Amino acid sequence: MAIDTVGALPDENGKQRLIVLEHAGKIDPEDIEAYMAVGGYATCSDVLQSMTPAEVIEQIRNSGLRGRGGAGYPVGLKWSTVAKAHGSQKYIVCNGDEGDPGAFMDRSIMEADPHRVLEGMMIAAYAVGASRGYLYVRAEYPLAIKRLKHAIKQAEKHGLLGINISGTPFSLSLQVRLGAGAFVCGEETALLASIEGRRGQPRPRPPYPAESGLWGCPTLINNVETYANIVPILREGAEWFASIGTERSKGTKVFALSGRIARTGMIEVPMGTTLREIIYDIGGGIPDGRTFKAVQTGGPSGGCIPAAHIDTPVDYESLKQVGSMMGSGGMIVMDDSSCMVDVAKYFLEFCMTESCGKCVPCRVGTAQMYGLLEKISEGRASLDDLALLEDLCDMVANTSLCGLGQAAPNPVISTLRYFRDEYMAHIVDKTCPAHVCPVSRKEAVR
Ligand SMILES: Cc1cc2nc3c(=O)[nH]c(=O)nc-3n(C[C@H](O)[C@H](O)[C@H](O)COP(=O)(O)O)c2cc1C
Repeated sequence: MAIDTVGALPDENGKQRLIVLEHAGKIDPEDIEAYMAVGGYATCSDVLQSMTPAEVIEQIRNSGLRGRGGAGYPVGLKWSTVAKAHGSQKYIVCNGDEGDPGAFMDRSIMEADPHRVLEGMMIAAYAVGASRGYLYVRAEYPLAIKRLKHAIKQAEKHGLLGINISGTPFSLSLQVRLGAGAFVCGEETALLASIEGRRGQPRPRPPYPAESGLWGCPTLINNVETYANIVPILREGAEWFASIGTERSKGTKVFALSGRIARTGMIEVPMGTTLREIIYDIGGGIPDGRTFKAVQTGGPSGGCIPAAHIDTPVDYESLKQVGSMMGSGGMIVMDDSSCMVDVAKYFLEFCMTESCGKCVPCRVGTAQMYGLLEKISEGRASLDDLALLEDLCDMVANTSLCGLGQAAPNPVISTLRYFRDEYMAHIVDKTCPAHVCPVSRKEAVR
């Protein structure tokens, strides 16, 4: 049996709720029979036999499910837009690009339960009227790719994919497409360009992919975890799903917990669980007698949430309120040995090198911001440089073409909001309080 996959971290304090990860690490992901033995494909079969596409969309809408790929867009609304869009050919796409530092949720879901993702896509394709689809997965995820391809072959053999599925008029073919590992290719319009064989660069929206996506046809694009939520919603009912979580953020969220924390790995918690519960009750707290300093959520587009906000519930709105975002689910914990200027510089360097270069604000702006952060970390910056950095944050966020540039300043903005004293120490006192930055090495020589 090929269960070399990870499930969720142990749940000693009963804080987790496994919906997406219910089978992760428990069934053999390479055996369709194992998936069927736990009820797999029964939901899709029921849907095809007894529900109209409009009824499926209504259920998803009533569940309150929001996209798990970052922006939290209502899934039912997107599905109904694609269903209503005109076009003889419609496509369905699964975004498995997952490129943010510290994120490994989607990879683990694809590796641990590939049939769950496929079944979610089948139901979605039926609901919106798509007959062809792609799973776009970064090439650095060879095990996920192997298992998805194998799962597609098995599903085809069982007549679950192909022409006239289960004797109904519904037909669907799915293929895996490999991404070459560019962060920007996770952005939906860049991803679609990449599938079409063009350079993976974003384009202005509208038109949104729901109306004009792959080869100009209406295209539904959702994240891996979003699709993995579809089966339980239709199996247990929209009301059941809507009873989990908070008023505006329903269901659970899978997070990849990493950094300075006793237990690292995947977790799944109801929306509204606090950061404290995640870090201490599930993650086991901060090791080596150190103290918690901040947690970065939302990857390079997110922000650093300081200890003062450790009781923030994880839901779309609360995380935004404290200057971060849900993002796709990376959660990097930092202790008092981290320098927040260095953290901001790390994330900004990531965005600068991953910028596709198509728009000037992102291509040039992130490089200028990085240069200023370098000056600060080396003790060469003035207060004028700090003012310029803040101006650039504004300019890059407000004028970039896509979400990469628009969100690139977030780690700088959030660290300036909560840890301005550390920036001042580097600029005015020429010292790095955590002894991380080059300025502290100069200090040692002085
Ligand atoms: C720079 C950038 C990278 C992104 N990377 C991903 C990704 O790796 N996976 C993902 O699902 N969405 C990613 N997104 C969001 C997608 O554009 C899109 O909103 C998402 O796939 C829609 O699915 P959802 O509604 O189910 O969340 C990214 C967006 C940006 C701007």
